[in-house]
Amino acid sequence: MASLLYALRPWIVLLLMIHTSLAKPLCHPDESSALMEFKRSFRIDTDQIRCVYPKVESWPQDGHGDCCSWDGVECNEANGHVTGLDLSSSCLFGIITSNTSLFRLLHLESLNLALNDFNSSSIPYGFGGLSRLRYLNLSISEFSGKVPADISRLSRLISLDLSSEWASLEMPNVENFVQNLTMLRELDLSSITMASPFPHVLANLSSLKSLKLSKCGLHGVLPVSIFQLPRLEVLDISYNGKLSGFIPEQQWGNPLKSLSLGGTILSGSLPSSLSNLSQLAYLDLQRSKFMGQIPASLANLTQLSYLDLSVNNFTGDISHWLGNLARLNYLDLSDNQLSGQLPSSFENLTQLVRLNLSFNNWQCEIPNSLWELKGLGYLDLGRNNFSGTVDLHKLKNLESLLLDFNNISFVSKPEINATLPKLSTVSLVSCNLREFPRFLGYLKGLEWVDLSNNKIGGSVPSWMWNGSRETLMDMGLSHNYLTDFENGHINLPMLTYMDLSHNLLTSFVNNQINQSLPMLTYLDISSNSLKTALPSPPPLAVYYNISNNFLFGEIQSICRARSLVILDLSINRLNGGIPSCLGNMVSLSILNLGENKLEGMIHHDYPKGCALKIIDLTNNRLQGPIPRSLANCSMLEYLNLGYNQMHDRFPSWLSKLTKLKAIILKSNKFHGPVETHQNQFNFSNLHILDLSNNGFNGVLPSKLLQSFHAMKVIVSQDQLEYIHTSQRLPQSLDTAIAIVAYDMKLMNKGTEREYSKVPYALMGIDLSNNKFEGCIPDLVGDLKSLISLNLSNNILTGSIPPSIANLTVLESLDLSRNKLSGEIPQQLAQLTFLSSFDVSHNQLSGPIPRGSQFNTFGTSSFAMNEGLCGSPLPKKCTAVGDNIPLPPSPLKEENDNDSIFDLDWKVVLIGAGAGFFIGVVLGNLIIDEKSRWFLYYSKMMAKRWKTPRRHRIIRSRARN
Ligand SMILES: *[C@@H]1O[C@H](CO)[C@@H](O)[C@H](O)[C@H]1NC(C)=O
Ligand SMILES: *[C@@H]1O[C@H](CO)[C@@H](O)[C@H](O)[C@H]1NC(C)=O
Ligand SMILES: *[C@@H]1O[C@H](CO)[C@@H](O)[C@H](O)[C@H]1NC(C)=O
Ligand SMILES: *[C@@H]1O[C@H](CO)[C@@H](O)[C@H](O)[C@H]1NC(C)=O
Repeated sequence: MASLLYALRPWIVLLLMIHTSLAKPLCHPDESSALMEFKRSFRIDTDQIRCVYPKVESWPQDGHGDCCSWDGVECNEANGHVTGLDLSSSCLFGIITSNTSLFRLLHLESLNLALNDFNSSSIPYGFGGLSRLRYLNLSISEFSGKVPADISRLSRLISLDLSSEWASLEMPNVENFVQNLTMLRELDLSSITMASPFPHVLANLSSLKSLKLSKCGLHGVLPVSIFQLPRLEVLDISYNGKLSGFIPEQQWGNPLKSLSLGGTILSGSLPSSLSNLSQLAYLDLQRSKFMGQIPASLANLTQLSYLDLSVNNFTGDISHWLGNLARLNYLDLSDNQLSGQLPSSFENLTQLVRLNLSFNNWQCEIPNSLWELKGLGYLDLGRNNFSGTVDLHKLKNLESLLLDFNNISFVSKPEINATLPKLSTVSLVSCNLREFPRFLGYLKGLEWVDLSNNKIGGSVPSWMWNGSRETLMDMGLSHNYLTDFENGHINLPMLTYMDLSHNLLTSFVNNQINQSLPMLTYLDISSNSLKTALPSPPPLAVYYNISNNFLFGEIQSICRARSLVILDLSINRLNGGIPSCLGNMVSLSILNLGENKLEGMIHHDYPKGCALKIIDLTNNRLQGPIPRSLANCSMLEYLNLGYNQMHDRFPSWLSKLTKLKAIILKSNKFHGPVETHQNQFNFSNLHILDLSNNGFNGVLPSKLLQSFHAMKVIVSQDQLEYIHTSQRLPQSLDTAIAIVAYDMKLMNKGTEREYSKVPYALMGIDLSNNKFEGCIPDLVGDLKSLISLNLSNNILTGSIPPSIANLTVLESLDLSRNKLSGEIPQQLAQLTFLSSFDVSHNQLSGPIPRGSQFNTFGTSSFAMNEGLCGSPLPKKCTAVGDNIPLPPSPLKEENDNDSIFDLDWKVVLIGAGAGFFIGVVLGNLIIDEKSRWFLYYSKMMAKRWKTPRRHRIIRSRARN
């Protein structure tokens, strides 16, 4: 009997199924027509990125049949009413209005319209009528505007998700909104702008399992009671940048699995009771204000797979807890103050894929067990003081290796099996390297390598440079192995970025100055000791910097690179002419050939649409005029032709280039009057004009001065930033932006000093050492933001205009060696920033102003003016009226404030200078998806940074 029953069982089941399906009522016609109407109110747009499958397309065209069987529709088995509608990711495009047929589905308990495109329309009023709703998901669907308040009437809701990707929705009164939603288990309102204090009422929703309020603009204090919600498993309140509070020391009763508090201003230390959270798998506290020791009890969080404590102020030792967390897959402790030891062994951390310990204070040895973590894909130990020997040969999954600023060495024997097929990014900045790490020669996938700021001397080996057979054999590799390399020639076929700057390199093996790095777009070998001819640039080079070496010979080979955007060959011994191909490089934006021995005329023909922003040809032997075609370079901001032998009239046509900020023609053979009566000038953005040491004559060019509109507005201290231009780099570096700041030599108390950055507020005019004659026009007093004015050594006559007293930020005034007469205007004593003043060698008379800065100038400032009297000169003033009283000095107090230029900038005389400072901010080249917005890798380098202080590579991240 028993066996018979067993045999019959499948039949019984089948019969039952038929029975129920027969008994199931069909859907109600009003509901099926409501569904059809809803369907027809949208267009299907399968191009949406979130479109997976257009469910409504499978619904019958005529709307006949049982709607309960339609894709995405669910009905009540007993009465046939539609209770569920799931059209998520269904490619819907259109608008839902408040008379939508959707609101006729009064029996709906579950509605999911997530991941469609409602075209920035607002969420309609009317959901509140669907009073049976328990589950409502409208997330990531391009809604905008205010969340209608009637949703808050849905007191049966268990799950509500209105989160969006962009902050396009607003909820002005969240406290009211959630008040009656007491059944909620899941609430996600991420990216809805609330701009309110944290809603305390949430702490009453004791059913909550998941609460997500990321990026809501919440402020105030996070109530501790949130952490006490008894069923809470997921809490995400990250990126509410004004939300403060702390994590309480408490008995954690709840089953928390995921805790995200990053990007807030939560502070304090981590309580050791956190270790009660035995199910915690995800902990993200990055970019907040936490501090103190990380409690050793974290060792008990054995389920933890994701731990991000980066960019806080944690201190102390991690060795007592880290080694235990065997499930860790993502660990980021970067940007803290951690020190002491690493765990004695990484043996347990076999799941690690990403490890970032950079920017801390470790000074210890790296345990060898780290090199056993076969799964590692990203390793950043940079900016510490780790020591030890790096052995990579087991890290077959490694993609990025960053060890900057440590004291490390590499296992010296080349391992035949050492290919690391995935390794594409290697950064070994300032690692005390004395030779090229040999493992680099094996990296066929290498795209990005930075070896700058080391002590690598001698020749660039050909396995780095052009991959010839000979040097591979130098490396002790067998011929068999050679076949592994593409054609046995090109070692680094993928290399796009190489920085070897600031080393001690002298040459290239076998004097190979043609390399075959086919993909290289960024090459920096600046600040080495290369004594060779100019290596020809890689054919795809966008950035080529080989400044500050001892290169000699002509620069014709530069024409090989047609895509250059930034070219810097400055400070070498290059000679010959400037090749005319430079004029045809349509993308060239920054050109620096300064401080070489280049000669001849500049005869390139700049085409229309010329992209040059910076031209620096200073200190060469160039002759002839400035090419008129430069007027086509409408982007030009900086032109420095100083210290050459150029021979031309003042290039008044430069006035067409309205972006020009600095013109430096110092020390050439320019001549003639600067302006004639038909000249019109419009140098409205000019900050710096240096025409000194030329043969200009005629009257001081007052129309020219009048056109310097930027100099007529005082730049407030808030706006104190450096003059720079930014330049996007194309091609494979398309995430990089080069920031180029002007670098100038400036006279400081008679000595020329170099500044790698020029503050935006630095405005100066230097017309000294010419043959200008006539009076100093009154309108000089309009150039209110001038910091420095030098008119010395001309043939100026007349008196010093009292309007100069309007130049309230003036720090340096030199009118010496002219034929000025009359008195020094007493008003000049009001110039409280004036720290350098020279009127010597004129024909001035009368009393020297007293008070304020004038008490600090020595006799040399006034020497050789027979008629001057009073302190500091020995000659007493005797004539009536000569002994004037001290002028009132209302600005006296300001004098005690720091000058905006601080120490270094106290005295600034414009000199000519060469060069500029280049920093490159690289985008996501080495950055993972998650933190793209917050992490960036910025690499600053400046040529001639010889001392350790200036010799730095800055990798910085925005701290909040
Ligand atoms: C919450 O419910 C109470 C009682 O039903 C009601 O009086 C109140 O208006 C509701 N609040 C909101 C914001 O809907
Ligand atoms: C880890 O948990 C165990 C048992 O729950 C406890 O005895 C131990 O003290 C905890 N360790 C730390 C470091 O808190
Ligand atoms: C980190 O903590 C130290 C000492 O407590 C403090 O001086 C420093 O300002 C803090 N740094 C940050 C970025 O909060
Ligand atoms: C590895 O895990 C075991 C077991 O939990 C533990 O005893 C050991 O101390 C851990 N090793 C390190 C280096 O922390």
